[in-house]
Amino acid sequence: MKIIVVCVISLMGLVQAGILNDEQKAKIIEFDKECRKETNLDDDVAQKAKNGEYVDDPKLKKQFFCFNKKAGFQNESGDFQVDFIKSKLNDITKDEQITNNLINKCLVKKSTPEDTAFEAIKCFHQMSPEKDLLS
Ligand SMILES: *[C@@H]1O[C@H](CO)[C@@H](O)[C@H](O)[C@H]1NC(C)=O
Repeated sequence: MKIIVVCVISLMGLVQAGILNDEQKAKIIEFDKECRKETNLDDDVAQKAKNGEYVDDPKLKKQFFCFNKKAGFQNESGDFQVDFIKSKLNDITKDEQITNNLINKCLVKKSTPEDTAFEAIKCFHQMSPEKDLLS
């Protein structure tokens, strides 16, 4: 079975970048898989998201919200768990200023938890650190 790991991108390509350890990678894949079961996300939409093309699809938004909840980034009501996200980002960026920038820019509350998750993940991906952030 082919599993497309959509939400890996939500962590800014960190898996590819070798920043995450095996346990963290396994967790991400597990969360993603569990959410795929709930959301029935289409493979082509998932693949596009992986490539940076975010289709305006309710299933994709649900997928992201589901993932963020499992990861502890959003709670049931869709609120960002800012302190937790901050500490995770700090581990990666090792730079409080970069972390705060990302948070101010990307953690924006929208009208629904799903939209909130969608926009945040899109934003993180766009600010993707393939360039400077992780070098
Ligand atoms: C979600 O988090 C927000 C902000 O931290 C908090 O005010 C709210 O009570 C939480 N809701 C639930 C259902 O835990």
